[in-house]
Amino acid sequence: MSGATGVLGSSMAKYLAQNGARILVLGRNKVKVDRLVSEIVAEKGKAFPLLADVTDENQLKEVFATVEKSFGKLDILINAAGGNLPGAVIGPDQDFTEAKIEELRHVMELNYLGTFIPTKVFLPLMLGDKKGSIVNISSMTAQRPLTRVLGYGSAKAAIDNLTQWLAVEFCQKYGNGIRVNAIAPGFFLTEQNRSLLTQQDGNLTDRGRRIIEHTPMKEFGQPADLHGITHWLCSDASRFVTGTIIPVDGGFNAYAGV
Ligand SMILES: NC(=O)c1ccc[n+]([C@@H]2O[C@H](COP(=O)([O-])OP(=O)(O)OC[C@H]3O[C@@H](n4cnc5c(N)ncnc54)[C@H](O)[C@@H]3O)[C@@H](O)[C@H]2O)c1
Repeated sequence: MSGATGVLGSSMAKYLAQNGARILVLGRNKVKVDRLVSEIVAEKGKAFPLLADVTDENQLKEVFATVEKSFGKLDILINAAGGNLPGAVIGPDQDFTEAKIEELRHVMELNYLGTFIPTKVFLPLMLGDKKGSIVNISSMTAQRPLTRVLGYGSAKAAIDNLTQWLAVEFCQKYGNGIRVNAIAPGFFLTEQNRSLLTQQDGNLTDRGRRIIEHTPMKEFGQPADLHGITHWLCSDASRFVTGTIIPVDGGFNAYAGV
């Protein structure tokens, strides 16, 4: 799992470990990766550290060699590394022409190529059994572009398209065993967006308030809200499901606002 040391990723990793999965914790920061591995092992789970940047194919190829040697195959690939950058956002007082191309490129690379490259590198570990589940992490902003969030939304929309493309490609080339789906989380209060959604005193910002107003369940998601969907997509219970992008959003996507 990439992004395993992040807020959502670590919650998913621990949950899957509690349910018997061996977790390969992929991250860039050795201290964080080792810490998560220790936490999982302390709870009697199985976890192993892997170090790589998801946008670096050479680093991932080295990881591939380690995984192939140690485990021989991969049942599940969760591409949870991703994120936004301030320069890829158009602030309320900014003009579109001020968009910073380098930061836009970085966000596209992290989210899109950071999903594409690990899938490319690790797919051969699923081809032996012609079986595996690939789970990408999209966002609400892919299907319903959010104001300000320019680069991140484009990158997540590209992940949706890639998810569908890969699902079709893998069925046609390898049969029905290798499935590709995406989870589209709605608004989860995490470090990535805390200052956008809440003020220092904990009250909602204007944007946070408008999001809650547009969410029929009237709350932000909790990391644990992704456990069930992750479990289902990783298991044979979703055997006939591929190419889907599934919102976990308290109804945000369904609500027209009237
Ligand atoms: N938090 C939300 O509300 C929300 C909503 C929708 C989608 N998402 C998506 O869910 C995923 C997880 O988000 P999160 O809230 O846990 O964020 P997070 O910042 O806590 O976690 C992101 C993880 O990705 C890792 N990462 C970043 N760049 C990397 C790189 N180049 N190589 C390897 N690892 C890298 C980070 O180290 C971190 O562990 C992301 O794809 C994010 O875009 C989050």
